[in-house]
Amino acid sequence: MLELHSVVKHFASPGGEVIRAVDGVSLSIDPGEMVALYGPSGSGKTTLLKIIAALLRPDSGAVRVGSRDVLALSKREAAAYRLHEVGFVRQQPDFVPGASAIDNAALKLFDELRRRDARRRVEPLMHRLGLGDRLRHAGDELSTGERQRVLIARALSTEPSLLLADEPTGNLDSRRSRDVMELLCELCHERGVATLLVTHDPLVAGYADRALELHDGRLQDYVGDSSHL
Ligand SMILES: Nc1ncnc2c1ncn2[C@@H]1O[C@H](COP(=O)(O)OP(=O)(O)O)[C@@H](O)[C@H]1O
Ligand SMILES: [Mg+2]
Repeated sequence: MLELHSVVKHFASPGGEVIRAVDGVSLSIDPGEMVALYGPSGSGKTTLLKIIAALLRPDSGAVRVGSRDVLALSKREAAAYRLHEVGFVRQQPDFVPGASAIDNAALKLFDELRRRDARRRVEPLMHRLGLGDRLRHAGDELSTGERQRVLIARALSTEPSLLLADEPTGNLDSRRSRDVMELLCELCHERGVATLLVTHDPLVAGYADRALELHDGRLQDYVGDSSHL
C-alpha cells in the first residue's frame, strides 16, 4: 500500500550545517497494517509524514501509495490525494475552535457534499469513537481526548487507504492515550487502512503491528520497552 524507497530530505541549518532530517528511509506498509515510528524529538518524524502526504518534496527517493507515484503529482493532484486518499491526524491546532465537533469531523467532506449530508456521513464514525453525545459541542466544551478523537474522525471521514498520525496522543494522559490507541487500532484493522503513526511514547508504539525507530533520519528496529502489552 505505502512504499518508500531511499527517501532523503536534508535541510540547511542557519549555521550552514546539513540537517539530515530524513536520511535514506525505505519502508513498506500493507493495507490494514499499523506501523509505529518511534523516535525522539527532532528525529525526522514529521518531515517524513509531510513527504508522504505530498506536503514536502524530498531531495531524492521514491514514494508510492497504491499504484500512485506521489512525487509525480501536480499541485492540484496532490491536493486531491490529500483530500481523498490520505487521512492525516496532525496536532490539536487543526481543531477549528468555533465549529462544533461534528462540523470539525465533517470538514473534509464539505467540498463535495451538502453540510447536512456531510454530517450524516460522519455521524456513525463519531458514535464509533464515543462522541455520540458530543456532536454539537464546541471545541471549548470538549476534553483534549475528545478533540483528538474528532480529528481521527476527520482523518477517516473520506475512507482513506492510508492514515498518517503525528503524535496522535501527544497531549493525552496515559489512560486517554490507551483509549485513543485502542480505537485507532480497531478502526485501522477493520477498514483495512494502512497506518503510519509517529510517536515518542513507547506505550503508543507498543500498540502497532510493527514498530521501527527513527534516529537522525535513519530507520532501525525498535528496541524500546513493550512490556505493557
Ligand atoms: N523547514 C525546515 N527547515 C530547516 N530545518 C527543518 C525544517 N523542518 C524540520 N527541520 C529540522 O529537521 C529535523 C527533523 O525535524 P522533524 O521532522 O520536525 O522532527 P520530529 O517530528 O521527529 O520532532 C529537526 O532538526 C528540525 O529542526
Ligand atoms: Mg514532529
